Amino acid sequence: MSEPTSLAGEAEQLDAADGLAAVRERFVLDDVTYLDGNSLGALPAHVPARVADVVRRQWGELRIRSWEESGWWTAPERIGDRIAPLVGAAAGQVVVGDSTSVNVFKALVAAVRMAREDGRAAGDGPVRDEILVDATTFPTDGYIAESAARMTGCALRPVTPAEVTGALGDRTAAVLLNHVDYRTGRLHDLPALTAAVHAAGAYAVWDLCHSAGALPVGLDEHGVDLAVGCTYKYLNGGPGSPAYLYVRRALQPRFDSPLPGWNSHAEPFGMRSAYAPASGAVRGRVGTPDILSLLALEAALDVWDEEGVSVSAVRAKSLALTDFFLRCVGAYVPDGRVESVTPAAHAERGSQVALRCDDAAEVMKRLIERGVVGDYRAPDVLRFGFTPLYVGFADVERAARVLARTLAG
Ligand SMILES: Cc1ncc(COP(=O)(O)O)c(C=O)c1O
Repeated sequence: MSEPTSLAGEAEQLDAADGLAAVRERFVLDDVTYLDGNSLGALPAHVPARVADVVRRQWGELRIRSWEESGWWTAPERIGDRIAPLVGAAAGQVVVGDSTSVNVFKALVAAVRMAREDGRAAGDGPVRDEILVDATTFPTDGYIAESAARMTGCALRPVTPAEVTGALGDRTAAVLLNHVDYRTGRLHDLPALTAAVHAAGAYAVWDLCHSAGALPVGLDEHGVDLAVGCTYKYLNGGPGSPAYLYVRRALQPRFDSPLPGWNSHAEPFGMRSAYAPASGAVRGRVGTPDILSLLALEAALDVWDEEGVSVSAVRAKSLALTDFFLRCVGAYVPDGRVESVTPAAHAERGSQVALRCDDAAEVMKRLIERGVVGDYRAPDVLRFGFTPLYVGFADVERAARVLARTLAG
């Protein structure tokens, strides 16, 4: 075991050389070592005043006028365009609203409908009656996929991401995958898997909850069809902040939403009895947007406009933080007490470290009491998320040190 002081000294040097260190000041933080930004991002300090203005002035004084004058009506696509560069998308392809679960439903049903349409266009094309879903997925995606499959007359086939390529075939309509596994922090190969799905004539839907704001995604570059993600983790939008839906531009005219609410109508105030979809990403909207949460998110995204803040800078620091955490854990924690289930290879690692530990629930409870906040995922995982915008190397060293002390009893 190394002396704690040497790693603490190294942490100090790494923090001093960190180009993102000053961004931490933009957040409301305290003495707690907060390693749970992969569950709920911290509060950017300027957000409360912006939300207060939305409530007091925009709602309280302007009232109904704010739909036009404060830009409420167009907020879902305007804020979508703020998220777009963070996931490698050109403007006009991302719309914000609803939860990730709801957007998974929209994307998956729309994907199956497009696959079926391709079959019809090809005359005697394959039937396309199967949906592949990541068997290791965060549960909501699996539940929604099961319902989407039932509604579209598809069979649902759970497969691990490693099995996807072998499972693809003529029957595959759509594949629902996670970019980063919520439990292990494993980063999946989005370019290769998307290409394999396309080679089989199917559509790829990616869940970006654990990658957006933490690492480059490259949606346009890799030809992703549809993607969804939440904004309350690495985008710091606040509890329950609305999710987003990406629909590749070329597919937008064919995007047939299973939830065609009036907000996605070509002429929403025409009050027509017949539905006619709007063009563009707006087609992914459903009902009246959740303005208070939406505008809190918009304010939170300002952090990304700071000098020196970029997805590539965030990714570089994220890998340095997770590397350093693994080193500190290796140095401080007695051998065999925990086992990392997060891949060591950078190309396979998201922005979290998951440690398997026998009494994980109890250990996390005690860690939190000692001021190190991560989270526990059943049955035996201690999960530590590293948000490079506000987590520093001293936090990392302290977390590993307190973990070792906690495990010692
Ligand atoms: C990968 C993934 N998908 C979906 C969700 C949840 O989505 P929702 O916004 O519908 O609660 C989470 C929540 O942590 C998640 O990690």
